[in-house]
Amino acid sequence: MRIGIFGGSFNPVHNGHIHLARAAAEEFGLEKIYLVPSRISPHRSSDEYVSGEDRLAMLRMAAENDPLFEVSDYELNSDRVSYSIYTIEHFRGKHPQDELYLLVGSDMLLSFDKWYRFGDILSEATLCVVSRNQGDMKLLKKKAAELSRFGDVLVSESSPVIISSTEIRKKIAKNKNFACYLNENVVQYIRSKGLYSYRGDAGLLFDPDEKKKYLKANLSAKRYVHSLNVAAECRKLAEKYGEDPDKAYFAGLLHDICKELPDADQKELVLNSGFTVCREEIETRSLWHAIAGAYFIKTKFGVEDIDILNAVRFHTVGRAGMSRLEEIVYLGDLISADRDYKDVDRMRKLSYSDLNSAMLEAFAFSIKSVVKKGGLVPVCTAEGYNFYTRLVREEKNSVNPKRGLK
Ligand SMILES: [Fe+2]
Ligand SMILES: [Fe+2]
Repeated sequence: MRIGIFGGSFNPVHNGHIHLARAAAEEFGLEKIYLVPSRISPHRSSDEYVSGEDRLAMLRMAAENDPLFEVSDYELNSDRVSYSIYTIEHFRGKHPQDELYLLVGSDMLLSFDKWYRFGDILSEATLCVVSRNQGDMKLLKKKAAELSRFGDVLVSESSPVIISSTEIRKKIAKNKNFACYLNENVVQYIRSKGLYSYRGDAGLLFDPDEKKKYLKANLSAKRYVHSLNVAAECRKLAEKYGEDPDKAYFAGLLHDICKELPDADQKELVLNSGFTVCREEIETRSLWHAIAGAYFIKTKFGVEDIDILNAVRFHTVGRAGMSRLEEIVYLGDLISADRDYKDVDRMRKLSYSDLNSAMLEAFAFSIKSVVKKGGLVPVCTAEGYNFYTRLVREEKNSVNPKRGLK
């Protein structure tokens, strides 16, 4: 029988590991693969490195239901230094008649001749190398040829999976979406034990992937593209003005979520929301979607962040004293890549050079277009206009105090 031995820190085990092992099994005809988590030196940072017990548990979850795999705690429980030759000797003892294959990533092959007793490893086992970087095949084959005088070295032809545990750990620590890289039980395990500084589900509410699916299914193509553009613009503005880019992206993405609901549904959401809504808003159909949208994401998506709710709620009408995130979504909607009104380029420049002046311009623009159409100006819009007028005036005065005395 051909038996593979695949060691690593598996911190945590991810889909790339499993793919690599399965690909090697298929290519080299392996009937069984031992997954062998290594011991990790305790001096490493505790946030990044979890206990052997946890790594073993995750590995067992990722490998269960696949008879190809068996998880071994040999290295974790061994009191010797974890040299690969000892691991090979251990499995040789268990399988005296079988052929052993040691699976390693391409980075390891390049330094393989520095490994402790590497010649003995090659006389006991065939080395199977799986590429971890696109385009390193030539180098791998050259190295394999050099080592072949000590034993068999096989280089896998399967394409590399570019995922690394390091990147996954970073995503977890930053509360970015990491579920797609891991077995779902491993995801649950990390969440429930708070591994790798996982900070709870709140952060994952800013995970836009699921929301994009909803928008794509429920909005016209044009509105969906607009939503993506506004989200991207909000991220850029957030980076410029020190707001959380993920949060801004998320709020921008959802700002028009109710825009294409039937009027009656929008109105019902507005009336049920319990938000303070002025008379002019109730009387202006095109403003309902903002109020409805805030209420919708609160009730349907469980968004509780008041800043995000207000950013969606006020993206049409604005108000005095908007938060930075509210301003970002308000402007992001106005200058997104799909906008092509006459002054849009000037507005874009102003938004990135002078936030308060851009807000003032945006309010003036909004009021002018309402007046032009014979519409009603909501009180909060008028208050917003006055607020930013004063703010810009005060700013000018503080830069050049004499101007205020004229
Ligand atoms: Fe809108
Ligand atoms: Fe919009």
